[in-house]
Order: sequence, then C-alpha cells, then structure tokens
Amino acid sequence: MADLSIIEKLPQIIKNGTEEARNILDRPLENLITEKEIIITNSNYREIVYKDKWINQLYRGDNLIVIEKLLKEGYKGKIDLIYIDPPFLTKTNYMGRITVKNGEEKEIIEHFAYRDTWEDGLITYLQTLYTRLYLMRELLSDKGSIYVHLDYRTIHYVKILMDQIFGGENFLNEIIWAYKSGGVSKRYYSRKHDNILVYSKGEDYIFNVQKEKSYNRGFKPYRFKEVEEFEDELGWYTLVNLRDVWHIDMVGRTSKERVGYDTQKPEELLQRIIYSSSNEGSIVVDFFAGSGTTGIVAEKLNRKWIMVDKGALSLNTINKRLIESKSSPYNIFKTKNVFNEPGKLFIKNLAIIENEEGVEELNIELDRYIIDIDEIDVKDKYKDKLKEILLKESLALIDFIGIDINYDGRIPVISWQDYRTNDKLIIDSNIKIMDKNLKDSRKIYIKCVDIFGFEYSTVYEINSERMVICQES
Ligand SMILES: C[S@@+](CC[C@H](N)C(=O)[O-])C[C@H]1O[C@@H](n2cnc3c(N)ncnc32)[C@H](O)[C@@H]1O
Repeated sequence: MADLSIIEKLPQIIKNGTEEARNILDRPLENLITEKEIIITNSNYREIVYKDKWINQLYRGDNLIVIEKLLKEGYKGKIDLIYIDPPFLTKTNYMGRITVKNGEEKEIIEHFAYRDTWEDGLITYLQTLYTRLYLMRELLSDKGSIYVHLDYRTIHYVKILMDQIFGGENFLNEIIWAYKSGGVSKRYYSRKHDNILVYSKGEDYIFNVQKEKSYNRGFKPYRFKEVEEFEDELGWYTLVNLRDVWHIDMVGRTSKERVGYDTQKPEELLQRIIYSSSNEGSIVVDFFAGSGTTGIVAEKLNRKWIMVDKGALSLNTINKRLIESKSSPYNIFKTKNVFNEPGKLFIKNLAIIENEEGVEELNIELDRYIIDIDEIDVKDKYKDKLKEILLKESLALIDFIGIDINYDGRIPVISWQDYRTNDKLIIDSNIKIMDKNLKDSRKIYIKCVDIFGFEYSTVYEINSERMVICQES
C-alpha cells in the first residue's frame, strides 16, 4: 500500500480489519489470561456479599485479547457504555513522574508509561483501532453507546471508520472538550480542544439528559412564566440541556485529582459521559484505562466497571487509586505474555504472636529489596540515583505491598495493603496486622510492586510455632 494516499488505503484497512475481527470471533478461545488476585479495600472480605455476584475487573494486557475473552465468556451484548481514550498518534512516548525518597532528599524519576509511535504511522494506527472498534460493537448492549476520545490528528479518519462500523445513522455527537492549558503557537491558532465521537448501537439507547447554566448577559430577559431563571455571582441564567461543547479544566499540576500519569483525564469529563449514557448497575468499560479515571467515576456513580491497560505503570496507578478511594472489591487479571522482570523482596521476620491485649497479630519485618537497575527502562541520568537509593534504603523503591493473611493456595485475596503516596514516600518496614482469620492461617501470600510496576510475590508457610524461618538475605 506504499504509494497510495490515505483515502485510497481506507478500503483495505476496513477489509483487513473486518477479516481479522471475524477470524477472532470464529476461532475457539485460547486461554491467554491468568486469573491473578482479588483486591479487597475494605476490612473483611469474608463478610462481603457481592451484589449480583458481580466483581469489577481490572486487566493488564493488550485489549484485543481481553475483548476476545469478554466476547467469548458471555459479555456479548451486555455492555451499556464503552469509553476509550486511545493514544492520539502524537509520535511521542509518555512518562509517569515518580517522587522517590533518597535519604533526606527527594528525587523525581521519569518512567516509561506508554508508546504512541507506530511503525507505518497513520495506517498501522487506523488498522489497530479498526479491529478493536469492530469487536467493541459486538460487546455493546442494544441500548449501549461508545465514546471515542481523540484529537485533531486522527478524529476525521476515525469518524469514517466509525460510520462504517456503527452506521452513520447512529452517530450522535462530536463533543468538543475545550480547555485552557497546554502549549501555544505563533504559526497557527492554539490547539485547545479534544474531540469525542459518540455513537449508539441502535435507536433505543440510554441517554439521561443533564442540564447546564446558560447566562443571559447579566440581566433577566425572559419574564416568561414557563422559563425559570436563577441568579448567581456571574448573573442571571436559565438551565438548558447540556450542549456538545464542554469547558472543563485539564488535570493541572496543582489539581487534587492528579496522580502523575501524563494523559490523565478529569473526573468531571467522565462524570458527564457515564451519567448520560449508562444507568446504575450498567457495565461501563474502558479499554485504554491509563490512570483509571473511568473506573473511579463509575464506582462513584454505582456502575459496574471493567478496565484494561497494557502498561505496568497504568496498572499500578489504577490499583493505588482504587485502594485510596476504598473502591468495592475487584479482580486483577493479566494476559500471559505480560513482561515482568521482578526484583526480590527479602523479609527478616514473620510470626503470628499474641499481642498485649491477647489478640493474635501478624508481625512482618521487611528487610530489603533488590533489583537490577540496568535492566530497567529509565533514562541513564536516573540510573545512578536509583542505584544509590537501592544501597541506602532499598525499600524506598517499593510502591505497593499487599498481603493475603490466609492464602488458600488458589487465588490470592489481598485484604491488607500499604503503599507509597506523595506524603509518605516509603512503606512501613514493620507490618502489624490484626485479623480474626489469622487463627486459621497456614499460608501468607505477600506481593510487592516496585515503582516501575514490576511485581514479586512469595508464599510463606507458617510452621507449628506460628512463624516462618526466613531465608538469608
Ligand atoms: C491516553 S491514555 C488513557 C488515559 C486515561 N483516559 C486516563 O484518564 O488516565 C492511553 C492508554 O492506552 C494504553 N494502551 C495503548 N494501547 C493499548 C492496547 N493495545 N491495549 C491496552 N492498553 C493500551 C496505554 O498504555 C495508555 O495508558
């Protein structure tokens, strides 16, 4: 297709994508997913009754694999809302910024989050998206809709693909999300908006109308009985149905929402989308989840959610964000080909003791963490600092630690967690857990995730003296 223009190439992209999607639909499901663990952010998992037997799902891996799994495991026609915010073809790599403790100092380390570079540029980009969009339509319920969030670089081409897959008659809106931040140019108008395409699956779709304020230039003009008018510090206004141009600030440097993930979207944006196009109890899916804004908002609005992202930093960011917000329990799955180059966490002591109040308590003393810094995908300028930290206070490189205090040998249920935040840059090395289930405990599962997203887990068997003989470190 080398010498053809993009318009000439579109039919081939559509043909290839349709064929690939149909092959995926027709083949038997090969199990490429490993069920990993359940995360419980509230106190006692045994007492939790899952509403409708539903448990939210967080996947790490390529979304094409997850789409196939969902389609073949009963989710065809079951999803009310899909929001996607894929890479925009910016031809750059995105970073996450992590603040790490280095003695009394703080270091900012930039770590790779995801790539937005494509072998054949626009062609590969559109081809990748087409197959996925085709299959996403299969997942949507009859009352479902999809939001595709892009910008000036590819929106026009993707609109053509979407018309092909969903039918032009099901196109509902192009939402303009306008903001003030970002760069300016002297050579063209400053680019200050993203574009969000909205399509329904069919005619009878969920749409909950929302209202916004419309100001009447400072005076009270209508005086019609049927039009209610209100006043606030900006003047008189009426309430009108939400329009398709949305002025919402980006998640700025000082924003409370900010989690340090480059392309994080504001909760207000997702609130509008999820509220309008799903109901309580609906399943809402984000196949390019990034920092997890969709799940965080879905949770607040009582929707069920599924999120997918292939990046380690993304999964780590989402996990901490969900735990922080005391989300309902969720399953973490990984696709089998996910790369993990783990370090190793050593512990000094692990014992179940009776504390001063006569209550059983699990005491764990962490020793140190080791990892080969030269193997990590960070710029060379950070490597020496990281090696220094590793020598001085290696636990500063642990981002998250999760424990199943009564591991049954199958799926770890992580009901205790500790993690780094900007206010607490190092996890506690002395862990004390009180839990009535400790009396039955035979195995302890400990998992840690380092600041780069690499995971390491071990199972410790408790001996008859209610302790573990720890390995030499
Ligand atoms: C623009 S970001 C999403 C940001 C997100 N909306 C938020 O609020 O944080 C795009 C994400 O898509 C992920 N991604 C790209 N290709 C993917 C694929 N094939 N499967 C799963 N995730 C993918 C990247 O890792 C990245 O986190």
